[in-house]
Amino acid sequence: MRNKVLVTGGLGFIGSHTVVCLHEAGFEPIIVDNLSNSEISALQGIEELIGYSPAFYQSDISEFPFLSKIFEDHEISAVIHFAAFKAVGESVEFPLKYYKNNMGGLITVLETMKAYNVNSVVFSSSCTVYGEPNQVPVLEITPMKEAESPYGATKQMGERILRDNASWCNTQCLRYFNPIGAHPTGKIGELPLGIPNNLIPYLTQTVAGIRKELTVFGGDYDTTDGTCIRDYIHVMDLAEAHVKAVERLIGNQQLGSFEVFNIGTGKGSSVLEVINTFEEINQIKVPYKIGPRRSGDVVKVWAETNKVENILGWKAHRNLSNMMKDAWNWQLELAKKTSNT
Ligand code: NAD
Ligand code: UD1
Repeated sequence: MRNKVLVTGGLGFIGSHTVVCLHEAGFEPIIVDNLSNSEISALQGIEELIGYSPAFYQSDISEFPFLSKIFEDHEISAVIHFAAFKAVGESVEFPLKYYKNNMGGLITVLETMKAYNVNSVVFSSSCTVYGEPNQVPVLEITPMKEAESPYGATKQMGERILRDNASWCNTQCLRYFNPIGAHPTGKIGELPLGIPNNLIPYLTQTVAGIRKELTVFGGDYDTTDGTCIRDYIHVMDLAEAHVKAVERLIGNQQLGSFEVFNIGTGKGSSVLEVINTFEEINQIKVPYKIGPRRSGDVVKVWAETNKVENILGWKAHRNLSNMMKDAWNWQLELAKKTSNT
């Protein structure tokens, strides 16, 4: 019998790719999502990729009775907890919305797991917990800085809550760096709602003609070409890291384990490198200008990945060209979908 893994937020960007990888690795994914930041079409994309429609519950994870129903219906072996709000700027504007959904959701997930004696969870954390690091690359033991946004605070607090509950719940905290790209088939990807804040959806929408021009936020930083540096990671590599994390949790019968891993490539790329790679691999120009710095931007951050490679046995395999190719392919597929509706 296949182990069942409950994926909260399983129709979102990272969740949908993880559902596909879980299936391919021999797990049975069970999805819960309230569609607050996703669309039901993601389920169709998943179905086309895996050949069947996985169990899907359209409900809010903060509702104990709804969540309990899923644990009644299925014998769950582990939970991957993606469901949360993730827009940094919005969290500054509406902090209570973020604390309520991200903390309330996590607590209800844990309460339900405890009630049903499920004791393995993977938590979506973020490199945002490090803030502007004194040294790069950052290691998992690099001290956290005070969170710069309520969103960042929910990730720090989420890690703390899980650490405090390690006596009964084994946890893998995955600190993602900058997830981008899409499934190479273009059947699933990220759904940007409204004007994107993040670099890649803004870039692809600009090239598609939806936006006039990409503004590079700052060209005078103390970096190789003056633009900020990030550790971009392909969403498929990230999804595969979750499979490794679940395998490690299920293979560990002893309680009391709380582990944190950086999930990045270990390589930093500047904004201009991203643009150049996009142009080269897709043979298409990106209209852009260098503009003022964006307030709150970290100048440079990338991951030290020795720990995740040695302990989890995971390493990113896809490079920036793969990410740019798949991101553009997804934008083209999205355009087709929108023109058909
Ligand atoms: P996403 O918004 O695409 O996916 C999250 C999904 O959770 C959405 O489908 C949304 O509808 C659902 N959801 C939100 N609140 C819910 C609730 N209360 N009940 C049920 N469903 C709910 O985001 P993503 O990019 O896939 O991110 C997944 C996780 O990874 C989040 O926790 C996010 O904070 C974290 N993360 C994301 C990034 C990134 O750059 N994408 C970086 C670091 C960490
Ligand atoms: C942001 C969040 C981070 C969150 C992540 C994923 C901040 C300060 N950080 O990361 O906490 O986990 O999104 O949601 O908001 N850029 C441009 N022009 C643009 C957009 C971005 O030049 O139009 C640059 C940025 O200055 C940055 C890089 O591109 O150097 C990446 O930006 P972005 O995609 O927004 O991610 P982060 O800022 O790294």
